[in-house]
Amino acid sequence: MKSLLLLACIICFILKAFALIPPKFQWKTIDYAWEGNFKDTASEMGAYIPENNMPTGLARWKDKLFITVPRWKRGVPSSLNYVYLNGSQSEPLIPYPSWKAAFVTDDAEHPSSNASVISTFRVHVDRCERLWVADNGVADMSNEVRQISEPAVLIFDLNTDKLLRRYALGGDVLKDSSVLSSIVVDIAGKKCDDAYAYITDMGSNAIIVYSLKTDEAWRVENHYFHFDPHAGEYTVGGVNFYWSDGVSSAALSNPKSDGNRDLYLHPTSSTKQFKMSTKLLRKKDASKEDIFNGVEVVGDRGPYSQASACDFDQKHNVLFYTQLCKNAIGCWNTDKPFTPENALILMKDCNMLEFPNDVKVDQAGNLWILSDRQSRFLYDSMDFNQVNFRVLTAPVSDLVKGTPCEKFVSKSVQRP
Ligand SMILES: *[C@@H]1O[C@H](CO)[C@@H](O)[C@H](O)[C@H]1NC(C)=O
Ligand SMILES: *[C@@H]1O[C@H](CO)[C@@H](O)[C@H](O)[C@H]1NC(C)=O
Repeated sequence: MKSLLLLACIICFILKAFALIPPKFQWKTIDYAWEGNFKDTASEMGAYIPENNMPTGLARWKDKLFITVPRWKRGVPSSLNYVYLNGSQSEPLIPYPSWKAAFVTDDAEHPSSNASVISTFRVHVDRCERLWVADNGVADMSNEVRQISEPAVLIFDLNTDKLLRRYALGGDVLKDSSVLSSIVVDIAGKKCDDAYAYITDMGSNAIIVYSLKTDEAWRVENHYFHFDPHAGEYTVGGVNFYWSDGVSSAALSNPKSDGNRDLYLHPTSSTKQFKMSTKLLRKKDASKEDIFNGVEVVGDRGPYSQASACDFDQKHNVLFYTQLCKNAIGCWNTDKPFTPENALILMKDCNMLEFPNDVKVDQAGNLWILSDRQSRFLYDSMDFNQVNFRVLTAPVSDLVKGTPCEKFVSKSVQRP
């Protein structure tokens, strides 16, 4: 019986992985949609070093797929980019909102415009057709870190590609060790301007809240935002490494009966799932005591289940998360108890999903996954004759069908 179950599981994994193949996009190295002979100039001046470009985040809006390339190393010409969905499998990235704004050299004194994004890991598309970006403002992150501009929240109107807001995050909310890893947006009422961004700072173990309406930001700290010393070891792509990253990703549930949502969150170096109410996050003057008691442990995913990113599917109430050490994507239907049967590996593939770095659900109900071999990129070496970066996609309803992540539907109980 056990072996039958195992076989069924293997077949199911293969089927799930198969449903994603072929990748929507895949690249050996990241190249850009250069204008004229600018590629030669950029290469000569060291502003483009192909092997130093690794994507870490994605987000889909209509016919665009945004792809971020942080400045880990020198020679990243543009950090915020997109490709059209109808493009070829290895489509070059188009800088956003324009080459002029996005192009930055590592020794730049300042950004070329207020719409310049210097270095971002992940971005968020909200239902009001805006793109939200958490910009760290740094170049050459893994070597001689240089701050080109202040860390900031940038908001773009996706229909016009115009910058709506740039809010610089200062020393009152950030620390020297801050690393802004993700951003998720909570539109509190019906109006688009009543919005809050929750920005995870995995470097200083905090969530930075930004209110669009009042144009101010505050810092929220909690012990659960710190890494778990038992979960600091990783093996991905044959590379062993140790990380002590704190809270790095968060996703929002549907509104609850009181109008607030749950923010599902986790530190990278942790196997636990946490949640807290947006009621607390939205309140700038929430007491230390309320914040201290406001984070709840939902459950534990088990050994080697560290996740870099998560997102929430509002139709099925499913939380998706990356599973770094398992080359996998996990899911949990939040209407059900967080148990090993309900918080499961949805798909797994040691080639296609080596270092699944970001996961997103778009507004049409598709799951998007970016895998990028990050452990080789940072700590070993990449073979640029192979495909290293992949984007996979499939409708959420197809993926969760027949699994415990599918929406709970009450069936009439069959009696013998
Ligand atoms: C792809 O989509 C873009 C934007 O919708 C459009 O401008 C372009 O012409 C399309 N390309 C092809 C080859 O269909
Ligand atoms: C950039 O933003 C600052 C502060 O909001 C403003 O003073 C400045 O005029 C802006 N610069 C440009 C080029 O728009």
